[in-house]
Amino acid sequence: MTSEQIREKFLEFFEKKGHKIVPSSSLIPDDPSVLLTTAGMQQFKRYYTAELDATADFGSQRTVSAQKCFRTSDIEETGDKTHLTFFEMLGNFSFGPVGSDNPEDFKTSGYFKRSSIFWSYEFITEILGIGVDRITVSVFKGDDATPFDEESYNIWHKELGIPKDKIILGSRVDNFWGPTGDEGPCGPCTEIYVDGVEIWNNVFNEYYKEKNGGFVKTENPGVDTGMGLERLTAMMQGVDDVFGTDIFQPLVAKVRESVSSEHDRVVRILADHLRASIFLIGDGIRPSNKEAGYILRRLLRRIMAYQIKYDIHADLFPESVEIIKNKFGKTYPELNETKKILEVLEDEKQKFQEAVGRGMKEIEKFKEIGGKEAFYLYETFGLPFELIKELAPKEAIENLYKEDFDKEFEKHQEISRSGAEKKFGGHGLLLDTGELKAGSEEEMKKVIRFHTATHLLQWALREVLGKDVRQMGSDINPERMRFDFSFSRKMTSEEIKKAEDLVNEKIKENLPVHFKEMLKNEAEKIGALSFFKAKYPETVKVYFIGPISPMGFLSAEFCGGPHVNWTSEIGKFKITKEEASSAGIRRIRATVL
Ligand code: ALA
Repeated sequence: MTSEQIREKFLEFFEKKGHKIVPSSSLIPDDPSVLLTTAGMQQFKRYYTAELDATADFGSQRTVSAQKCFRTSDIEETGDKTHLTFFEMLGNFSFGPVGSDNPEDFKTSGYFKRSSIFWSYEFITEILGIGVDRITVSVFKGDDATPFDEESYNIWHKELGIPKDKIILGSRVDNFWGPTGDEGPCGPCTEIYVDGVEIWNNVFNEYYKEKNGGFVKTENPGVDTGMGLERLTAMMQGVDDVFGTDIFQPLVAKVRESVSSEHDRVVRILADHLRASIFLIGDGIRPSNKEAGYILRRLLRRIMAYQIKYDIHADLFPESVEIIKNKFGKTYPELNETKKILEVLEDEKQKFQEAVGRGMKEIEKFKEIGGKEAFYLYETFGLPFELIKELAPKEAIENLYKEDFDKEFEKHQEISRSGAEKKFGGHGLLLDTGELKAGSEEEMKKVIRFHTATHLLQWALREVLGKDVRQMGSDINPERMRFDFSFSRKMTSEEIKKAEDLVNEKIKENLPVHFKEMLKNEAEKIGALSFFKAKYPETVKVYFIGPISPMGFLSAEFCGGPHVNWTSEIGKFKITKEEASSAGIRRIRATVL
């Protein structure tokens, strides 16, 4: 059976039992508590809580889907025969209230454990033709918070005749699922194993987990099941490796052409990451240094790092995009936008190549590279950990451990998470140069572009007018920026043009923007500019534009951020006016296009 047939049969089977087939939702969830879609139930969260009415939207309290999913926790695990970052999850769902739990009723009302377990069993044994003797199941054994799932146990044992020794009693870790994010529907689950491999999870949402609170029994118990298509296909096709199924065959064959056969692990990582990246891009995610964009960047840079490390010269992107389109474009039409997807890949490839060039120079400057330095190289130049290990001289990385790098990484994520909260706290954002106000994410993006532009402008004015020029103030809103600086006369139109050109030149060079936490006196010593009115703590954040080379740096300012990651994000910079502000202080008004 091909994977297409399995997907089809699953949807059909449940459609016949009163379920409405619902297309996969995007990998970008509408649930803000998670970065990416990780399960089939996510798009239905608000139907479980009856905030939305499934009967009105689907004509049934039962739905079935094949959902695109991505699990970040599996990035480092890929390379073996079963782990994937991106996968498809087949699932049937019931939102309640329970109208009938008789598996013979093909109605549109909600159902519960009995129907769900009976149908799983029927699908596996009759549609897929798997012998009962190959099946084992697990059931939640209960703990202090929620009790033993006796009902499921009895259905398996007494009604379906699964012998006691083939029913595992599992703990919360394995047999209680959800919620996704920090609150939501959740409950005990029963897992189905075939030949010892877990293939299907039936979750019974009897509870609502409250934020920072306990489990509250719901009035409307729901059903949420999930079965990974890739693993199921492997089982049906008699292979023990998801990369050996028809799902991956064309892509794996392509990658194999350029990777020697002893590197199976690399082939799998490349195949997984290529497919996952293309799906992420198809859903509108773009490489960046935060959130979902960061995950995509990580995958792409891992691909390119492996290409360097294993001397893989083949241009994998264009052919992968075609292969993925041919295999999945019918089911997921967004993958037919091959031109757009390829553009994103090529663009990131170019950025990576520039970054590698810059990063390699930077690597040479370190006598010793530990977790902190490695993370700095990653953050500033986009060099993945694997590549740093590859490029750095052996003596420099004797004490470089992945755990230390990960620790730095997590620290950084915490910082950016708290930054994001502040960002949308409703009060705008206080910067050391004045107050940045933004009413929406769109506006915030714009003022951040302006903010980095003020740093470039200060640098340019000092180039053109001399080093006495200092910022005296700035004011930014989503439409324009104002920048006040010390200078005693009107600027000539040539000087204005020169400053504008210099800023645009640096934007075009697409320099990295990055910060370092430094001791205040060290920051002053290297010549980082501070805003004279402000009082600074002992440790300050210094924003640099451009790499820090032995010859110095382009721009360094005491600043709390936030900034764009790369100067090209600013767009085209235009000075609209130069005028007097007060005695000895000039004012520039500018915009970005
Ligand atoms: N939502 C459940 C899972 O992901 C089915 O395992």
